[in-house]
Amino acid sequence: MSQIRGRFKKAADKKVDQYTASIPYDWRLYPYDIAGSIAHARMLAKQGIITDKEAETIVIGLNGIKEEFALGQFLFKAELEDIHMHIEARLIEKVGEVGGKLHTARSRNDQVALDMRLFARDAVANTLVELGGFQEALVALAGANKEVIVPGYTHLQTAQPVLLAHHLLAYFEMLQRDTARFIDCLKRVDVMPLGSGALAGVAYDIDREFLAKELGFSQVSRNSLDAVSDRDFILEYEAAASFCMMHLSRLAEEIILWSSAEFSFIELDEAYSTGSSIMPQKKNPDVAELARGKTGRVYGNLMALLTTMKALPLAYNRDLQEDKEGFFDTVDTLLSTLNVFSGMVKTIKVNAENARAAVEKGYILATDLADYLVKKGEAFRPAHEAVAKLVTYAVEQNKPFSKLTLTEYKKFSKLFEKDVFSITVESSIAARDVTGGTAPRQVEKALSSARKTIGARGGN
Ligand code: ARG
Repeated sequence: MSQIRGRFKKAADKKVDQYTASIPYDWRLYPYDIAGSIAHARMLAKQGIITDKEAETIVIGLNGIKEEFALGQFLFKAELEDIHMHIEARLIEKVGEVGGKLHTARSRNDQVALDMRLFARDAVANTLVELGGFQEALVALAGANKEVIVPGYTHLQTAQPVLLAHHLLAYFEMLQRDTARFIDCLKRVDVMPLGSGALAGVAYDIDREFLAKELGFSQVSRNSLDAVSDRDFILEYEAAASFCMMHLSRLAEEIILWSSAEFSFIELDEAYSTGSSIMPQKKNPDVAELARGKTGRVYGNLMALLTTMKALPLAYNRDLQEDKEGFFDTVDTLLSTLNVFSGMVKTIKVNAENARAAVEKGYILATDLADYLVKKGEAFRPAHEAVAKLVTYAVEQNKPFSKLTLTEYKKFSKLFEKDVFSITVESSIAARDVTGGTAPRQVEKALSSARKTIGARGGN
């Protein structure tokens, strides 16, 4: 068997074979295609559409083909177009004519829909494992640096001091939402499309519920036209992956900034850094940069498939073959990024002193001074203004708050007393003792709840 040429007198042009082939990338669907075919053969036998003996021969043949793939012995032929035709042709080669019965009550349209769903189900499972592993790395870094204080920023300008652990746990939260999105996506993946045939269903007495059970799906699709042309489940994965890469890219950006000579809050392990071919002093954060860069590709894959889908009439159209490369690429990119980030984050060295020195700069306690005046009875607006003027004065004098005298303070508000000197970076952090705040007590609670979340998953 070569390409399906039943009604044609001519062979396809070589260029057409090459242009239409998906085998260069859909070969990796082979374990799913074989699992689907084994379930299908068993169902056909159970329904008396083929004999038990025929099914047995087909299943043995398919398992042999799986072995050939595993051993790298399977032969590919460009004219066989896709993985489905490769496996069917090889089956007929191996077991003879009976192999030709496998495709009874099935079309490549419902077959490929099934394969993609089986692939997506594994992809989600692997993604959840990698997400969990990365969250664990974040929590480990946070837990090992519980006392470290960094400047918190808004507009990338020094704003208020925060615990480094609080900052890292912000990413833990983002990844919790990503996890929830992937779990939710699984509900739409978990639908068994086989039995939809080419588009209208099949004219045999098949048992779709049996197929669903054999293949571990909890539902069967309810509309055959939809089932063969739906790729929403791929889009959902790609959308969730885009969110997740966006989060990783934000962290990447901070790792790049924080490991620069100007910040020097962290140092990347040598195993996660690269050198420059010309500048000997360089220790570059290429892993973080590439994650930031690859985020663009992952967004691109989502946009590409959305665009492919937008004007497709029902039901199957060959355009749908274009779902694969982008999806595979997104899954590979996300899994490898999460995996390498776990290692990178676990081995980060924190320079607590450099971070502390940065905290001392930039009048980071200005909000606390305003809060101080409010607690002494001032309204917030005038308190804000008094401290703003105090900052201008301190900048002119080139002095930090701690070097100003009480007399100088009193020029800006009579409410300032000696106890103003007890406002420190530590008191500022401790004061933010609200749920979700940066006070050590709150961060400790957040850390142990994060650890519980990871533990409840059985630890990855
Ligand atoms: N290689 C095809 C794809 O990926 C399989 C389905 C082909 N169906 C068809 N009617 N040509 O979509």
